[in-house]
Amino acid sequence: MSFSIELELQKFPKNVKLKDGRKAVLRPLKADDEKDFHLLFQGIPERERMFIKHRVQDIKVIRDWCKNIDYGRNLPLLGTVDGKIVGCATLHQRLGGWKRHIGRVSVLVHPDFRGQGLATKLITEILAIAREAGLEKAEAAFIAEQEAAVKMFALLGFSQLVRLDDYVKDMQAITHDYILMGLDLKTDEEYASAAG
Ligand SMILES: CC(C)(COP(=O)(O)OP(=O)(O)OC[C@H]1O[C@@H](n2cnc3c(N)ncnc32)[C@H](O)[C@@H]1OP(=O)(O)O)[C@@H](O)C(=O)NCCC(=O)NCCS
Repeated sequence: MSFSIELELQKFPKNVKLKDGRKAVLRPLKADDEKDFHLLFQGIPERERMFIKHRVQDIKVIRDWCKNIDYGRNLPLLGTVDGKIVGCATLHQRLGGWKRHIGRVSVLVHPDFRGQGLATKLITEILAIAREAGLEKAEAAFIAEQEAAVKMFALLGFSQLVRLDDYVKDMQAITHDYILMGLDLKTDEEYASAAG
């Protein structure tokens, strides 16, 4: 794990307030979160789970994630309420190759905890970590039906980079339009010094 990520993670656990006044705690995934993390995915309706790339209903998949935590590659930042995991945003980094400067972000919030600003808070933290890690861009991929997510990422400053008709297949092999959104992570100061 890079020094900058280690430093950035010292901010956690972090207390935040949801719109309805409930308190949530943001913190990275730990090795012993397996059961509780699996419960989050079990709470996601089947029609939405089909769009998730991994077989998250299988506890073995979650066990594998919890056993092989490497924040420098995949950093899952959890949102918990009363000790229960209710949301997760992940920063995925490629450690080499032509996308090594681009962090991929994804997010998921339990249906009972949506509309409370949790995803916005999780992604905002993840983007701050991405900047600290020296990443220059963030990207997020969707299928066109994930309209709430597309709207939320647009509000956070992401713009559509590409849309490809019938490009991806869900778990039932049904094709969907693919949308890639992106955000430049360079700070204003960096732009200013580059210009001056
Ligand atoms: C997308 C998702 C993460 C949003 O989580 P959330 O915690 O409810 O999001 P927030 O409360 O931070 O919403 C932020 C903004 O997004 C927009 N938004 C969120 N849900 C919306 C919905 N269902 N319809 C329209 N706009 C929506 C709103 O503008 C909202 O701001 P507002 O409440 O002030 O109007 C959640 O709906 C989810 O988990 N969806 C399924 C998984 C998914 O599609 N993930 C994206 C793949 S990367």
